Amino acid sequence: MIRGNALVTGASRGIGSATAVRLAELGADTVVVHHRNSPEAAERTAEAVRQAGAEALCVAADLEEADAVDAMFVELGRDLGSLDVLVANAAASSFKPLLDTHDENIRRTSRITVNALLQCVRAMTSLTETGGAIVVVSGIDVSQAMVGHGLLGSMKAAAETLSMYLAAELGPRGFRVNAVRPGLTLTDSARTYSERVFGDSAEFERLLVSLTPARRAGTPEDVANVIGFLCSEEGAWINGQVLVADGGLSAVSPTDLITSGRRSDQ
Ligand SMILES: NC(=O)c1ccc[n+]([C@@H]2O[C@H](COP(=O)([O-])OP(=O)(O)OC[C@H]3O[C@@H](n4cnc5c(N)ncnc54)[C@H](OP(=O)(O)O)[C@@H]3O)[C@@H](O)[C@H]2O)c1
Repeated sequence: MIRGNALVTGASRGIGSATAVRLAELGADTVVVHHRNSPEAAERTAEAVRQAGAEALCVAADLEEADAVDAMFVELGRDLGSLDVLVANAAASSFKPLLDTHDENIRRTSRITVNALLQCVRAMTSLTETGGAIVVVSGIDVSQAMVGHGLLGSMKAAAETLSMYLAAELGPRGFRVNAVRPGLTLTDSARTYSERVFGDSAEFERLLVSLTPARRAGTPEDVANVIGFLCSEEGAWINGQVLVADGGLSAVSPTDLITSGRRSDQ
């Protein structure tokens, strides 16, 4: 059960979109569907939120721009009064080997993943005096080195650590802060990534399924269910934690993955 209003950043597609719908199913009053520059996709999410029983409001703001984020919260404060749930999901980065990155790549990834996270939490907690739930969407690139993910994985690691400190600092005011660390999840961005590093996203998906203990690939809804639980009253005793949501893949040792990879080739 979720009470009050929720904001999901990066909700125009993928995990953010599925999360917006899940929060509506769990009882949120209004779900704010944030995007950067995808009004039609955001409106499709908003329609699905309404179908699931909540009010929906689309807002656009580039998280790289501090002024745009401030303006978004002024609008939300005026239209909604309070925000009880914040899901910091939006992400973007340049996927290069670390030594090919420039200061500008570091600045932009940091701005979206770290600075905007703190800015959103500051604004959300000043709107809401009665406490609430915050979930940071991290990624498995925090604990496993993935091709081209050095920058994003490092910034997500910072975001996870921030969520732990925020849990300790904001707990006495009634806020819970947790992180979800998804494994590879079937979104448009993940398919683009697998196409780029592997060459064939369908074959990549087949191998992923064969190596995952659950014997299927993760969907946006799988991750949204975990986020929804952490935001809900049923998750009230969980604070300052990171939940891995990957169907068990990260629990398998590399030697077993090599062995089962060879079996799936035969
Ligand atoms: N998919 C995976 O396999 C996977 C695995 C682990 C972790 N994750 C994490 O899960 C989250 C969602 O992933 P996804 O694959 O569902 O995402 P996605 O399809 O890439 O969608 C990204 C979302 O972030 C928004 N966004 C991007 N840059 C922005 C900016 N500068 N300002 C504001 N919004 C911005 C996009 O808005 P527009 O549409 O307007 O551009 C979009 O709504 C991310 O944090 C990602 O790192 C994903």
